[in-house]
Amino acid sequence: MEDIIKIPQHVSIIMDGNGRWAQSRGLERLEGHKEGVESVRAALEFAVEMKIKYLSLFAFSTENWGRPTSEVQGLWTLMFKAIEREAKYLIKNRVRVLMLGNLQQIPEDLRMAIQGLMDATADCGGTTLIVMLNYSGKWDLIQAANRFAGENPGKEMTPEDMDRYLVTAGVPDPDLLIRTSGEERISNYMLWQTAYTEFYFTDTLWPDFRKKEFRLALEAYARRDRRYGKV
Ligand code: FPP
Repeated sequence: MEDIIKIPQHVSIIMDGNGRWAQSRGLERLEGHKEGVESVRAALEFAVEMKIKYLSLFAFSTENWGRPTSEVQGLWTLMFKAIEREAKYLIKNRVRVLMLGNLQQIPEDLRMAIQGLMDATADCGGTTLIVMLNYSGKWDLIQAANRFAGENPGKEMTPEDMDRYLVTAGVPDPDLLIRTSGEERISNYMLWQTAYTEFYFTDTLWPDFRKKEFRLALEAYARRDRRYGKV
């Protein structure tokens, strides 16, 4: 196995393929999401092991509201249970949890549980796990621009202002973005923050994406030459 010599500071993942994983087994889509939660655990454990400072996961996009209510409801329930089940692990392993997105639209009980988890882990100095929830890149840019304009009438916005008004303020831009399941699109994810991000696509479906696949992605990243537009 290759040595991973260059560990990214921030890895972001578009977790895709849960539905196809389930359908190919004749199961309900929600079973794919359930198995996907196990992959979330595996990815987090690996990030902690590798001392990756930030791991962000695209858990629910603003477009996902268009799915059947039973699937959306099922996803909230899965997340609620995961929070209850994992709180101890997170605190023990010094994982700080952030949930970023348009959280106002999230069901009240889940929102309270999320807030509780963020408060309980606020002082944790290990890996930061960022769950992007009811998030989209265009939504983030618009809310940032509107908030900036409201607070700074007549002032022109700079790139640094944008960084400070996006919900990801204070989080370094992703070094590596992984998308599973063979789709090779940004799908309205972090549009501003991925300007210089390295992309890694794999055909592996998210429920099958475990430590071995994560390691392959890090090895591929270590071989890349990032020039940021320079020579
Ligand atoms: C994409 O697969 C996956 C999602 C829209 C949901 C991902 C959410 C989780 C795995 C739960 C996260 C939980 C925590 C605790 C962070 P898809 O349904 O679009 O798959 P398909 O493209 O094959 O239909």
